[in-house]
Formats: sequence, C-alpha cells, structure tokens
Amino acid sequence: MLGFAKKAEKAGGGQTTNPRHVAIIMDGNGRWAKKRHLPRALGHKKGVEVVREIVRHAATTGLEALSLYAFSSENWKRPEDEVNDLMGLLRGFIKSDIDEFAANDVRLKIIGNYRALAPDIVDMIDDALARTAHNRRTTLAVALNYGAQDELVRAAQAAAGEGAISAEAIERHLDTADMPPLDLLIRTSGEQRLSNFMLWQAAYAELWFTDTLWPDFTPAEFDSALAEFGTRERRYGGR
Ligand code: IPE
Ligand code: IPE
Ligand code: MG
Repeated sequence: MLGFAKKAEKAGGGQTTNPRHVAIIMDGNGRWAKKRHLPRALGHKKGVEVVREIVRHAATTGLEALSLYAFSSENWKRPEDEVNDLMGLLRGFIKSDIDEFAANDVRLKIIGNYRALAPDIVDMIDDALARTAHNRRTTLAVALNYGAQDELVRAAQAAAGEGAISAEAIERHLDTADMPPLDLLIRTSGEQRLSNFMLWQAAYAELWFTDTLWPDFTPAEFDSALAEFGTRERRYGGR
C-alpha cells in the first residue's frame, strides 16, 4: 500500500487523532519585518527563533516527524544579499542547535538538493546528520534547496533506472521515503498555495492555513492546527 494512503493512527480511548507527520511552509518573514520598518534580515532572524521554539514544542507532542520548508529551489531568485543572510542564519542554526537535537533524541534530515549549497554548509550538515542519525524520538526534516518538481524528477529517474516506473517505485525514491505519510500541511502568512512543496506527499494531507506571519507563530497555534486536524474526516477517495 502506498504510504500516503495509510490512515493516521487513532489514539486509544476514543481520543482525537494525532498526526504522525506535520509539514510547515514557514512564510511571512519579509512582511513581518516590513510592518515594523525593519530590514528583512531581522524577519528571517526572528523566524529562526520561532523554528527553534516549534521544534522543541513538536518534540514534546509525540509527533514522529516535522518537515520545515526553509529554502526553496526558487528562492535563489532573491537578491544575493538576502540569500547570503539566509545562508548565514542557516550556519548559525546548525552550529547552535545540533547539540540540543543530539541530546534530545531528534534526528535531523535534509530534503532537497543540499549538496548545491556552499561547501562549508554541506560539511556542517553532513556532520549534523551523522551525529543525529540514530536518534528516534522525532525526525526534523529541513527542506533546503528543495523543490517538489525537482524531487519528483530525481525520483522518477531513479525508479526508471531500476525498471518500470510505478507510484510505489517513485515513492521509494522521494527525499521523504523513510518518513511517515504526510498528515497535515500548515502554511502561515495568508498565502494559500504549495509553492512547489511536497506535491506528491500532499496528495491526501489535510491543509491548514493561517494569516499569522511566521515570526508571530506560536506553539499554541501549532496546537490549534493539531486540534483541528483531529476533527477532520479523511476519506482517501472512499466513503
Ligand atoms: C519565508 O518568508 C522565508 C523564506 C522563504 C526563506 P518570506 O521571506 O517569503 O516572507 P514574505 O513572504 O516576503 O513575507
Ligand atoms: C515558500 O515561500 C518557500 C519557503 C517558505 C521556504 P515563498 O515566499 O518562497 O513562496 P511564494 O514565492 O510566495 O510562492
Ligand atoms: Mg514568502
């Protein structure tokens, strides 16, 4: 059976259903800064602080996997200054947060073609992946230089290299292959589009949109999304 078609497991005792895998399109850093007449870089900086808070919180909710869209394959179109600011923040995040992940049983995973990033970042990532590879509590998948169309092309090529292309074969070669099926996809900032994120995985995911800009997003709002997920009826085309 295809992973995305599996039902999220019911919690015991008639409680609400908890998602196993939540993904977030963290959008609105620029608008947050603009509203405050601050440079965009400060919006991104505050955005990283919120990432830290949400990862800590998610790990305490029993979530198996959290995927965060941090830098898309299209974000290279932004001015060089902004790309540099984002890469600088990424360096800082890996340096300051990996010890905590390692200590808290969080496994880091990168989706997207991160090998195209600067060599020092690639080295830092490889080290962080190795240090957290055996952790089991929560998987944190950070999407870097990620585009779902690129992911699907790579997966289809790998599947074709093995013989016939099938949905199962493509799924086995997605960047998310070893993760639970995507249950809930959150996007902040009021935009209601996928922006090339997890196009395959979102096939039967529940979508949840909020006007809150990412730097203002809170663990309480994350919990609201989880609570609403628990009330959704998923049918997967059946009845
Ligand atoms: C999201 O915030 C962060 C990244 C895409 C890296 P934006 O920078 O897209 O913020 P807005 O959409 O311009 O407000
Ligand atoms: C999507 O946000 C990418 C990330 C959150 C990393 P964008 O701000 O790049 O998306 P668009 O351009 O508004 O679709
Ligand atoms: Mg944006």
